[in-house]
Amino acid sequence: QTQFADIRGNDLYIDGVKATDLAKKYGTPLYVMSEGHIRHQMNELKEKFMDKYENTLPLFASKSFSCLAIYKLASEYGIGIDCVSAGEISIALRAGFDPDKIYFHGNNKLPSEIEYALKHGVTHFVVDNFYELELCDKIAGELDTVVKATVRVVPGIKAGGHNFIQTGHVDTKFGFSSHYGIYLKAIKKILDSKNMEFEGLHAHIGSQVFDLYAYISAMRTFMGFVDEIYKTFGVVVKKINAGGGYGIAYNKLDHPLDFETITEEIMNVIGEAYEKRGWERPMVLIEPGRWVVGNAGITLYTVGAIKDIPDVRTYVSIDGGMADNIRTPLYDAKYDGIVANKAGETKTKVVTIAGKCCESGDLICKDLHVTGNIEAGDIFAVFSTGAYNYTMSSNYNQLPKPAVVFTYEGKSKVVIRRQTFDDLVEYDEDQAYE
Ligand code: LLP
Repeated sequence: QTQFADIRGNDLYIDGVKATDLAKKYGTPLYVMSEGHIRHQMNELKEKFMDKYENTLPLFASKSFSCLAIYKLASEYGIGIDCVSAGEISIALRAGFDPDKIYFHGNNKLPSEIEYALKHGVTHFVVDNFYELELCDKIAGELDTVVKATVRVVPGIKAGGHNFIQTGHVDTKFGFSSHYGIYLKAIKKILDSKNMEFEGLHAHIGSQVFDLYAYISAMRTFMGFVDEIYKTFGVVVKKINAGGGYGIAYNKLDHPLDFETITEEIMNVIGEAYEKRGWERPMVLIEPGRWVVGNAGITLYTVGAIKDIPDVRTYVSIDGGMADNIRTPLYDAKYDGIVANKAGETKTKVVTIAGKCCESGDLICKDLHVTGNIEAGDIFAVFSTGAYNYTMSSNYNQLPKPAVVFTYEGKSKVVIRRQTFDDLVEYDEDQAYE
């Protein structure tokens, strides 16, 4: 799934670093992120979108992987970021990220978060609902600043890998509905407010999307909204955020779309529509997350207990599980993996890789072909864990969170240290009642 991992003899290498050496050096479970892969993807965003088309900005959807190191990398490539909380914004700002390239998303931005963002110069908001509009108007007024609002409108399209990660259909908690002209009422409020500026429209149809037509269709629908807005207010929409959701390959059954094809289609629909109306093309933004970091991640585990149920199934237990990767129990996600120290051996055995959490559903890979020699002490590598693994991790069963290590050009470094038992009680208090 990533060109930055390869097998040499019997060993898996990531960015030229032997996986078993990483396991030895940093311990397991271990999130390994190929900086080579992340840089490659960010460079694609820059060269094949930002530099290729004028007046564009790719955003990295940082909910997929958020820490100081990734914001520093994004900054280096001159791309923007999508943040969904004051917490994410605070980390980005600590990393020195330019507040003007931060877009604040979310369906329930808290008053305290709005205030935090505005006080720190984050003024690009993807506004989601009428309550938020009222808050923005009030808080921006108090702080004597202006919220630059991109209005999130529901395109009414069903796309995405799993029901839980579809966002573009009518029955969703996100964004303004398009029917009954509801989104037009939102735009009117913004136009009428002296504390808000109407920047444009935002669409996000879902996540892990493999359907090119869904993107085309969403943009065509949006061109209708652009017309409605012009007809109603005489305003030409100057900014369109086409969202993210670009699917990646987790296994051989996944066939991702080509990045340049998606962006070309998006640019074509918008470009042609604007040209036809004699308008200058608006600024176009995209905001993939998984596509940037998903295939960069490989989680390393140590194999422990192996339970063979004759004629039924063999469970191979590892030293992590749903606490570091909730995606299999939550979305029935399918992960591929390999025994990193027996990577060259023929796969003669079918096993289920089980986590160590007290839940039957804590299974990371189901019915996976592995070497027949798999045994306790082996290092098991699960591929494509770079997106929504670390950021969705928990301390369930009080498992300390694994370290995150970056690899690049034959070297490795820790970017997030492993939690300790002390960390597990860091927030516990023993107060008297008052
Ligand atoms: N833009 C908006 C407004 C979003 O809501 C999302 C994802 C993205 C961009 C980035 O989507 P991506 O390119 O990463 O697919 N936890 C789930 C995914 C939830 C996605 C939430 N929104 C998972 O592990 O599959």
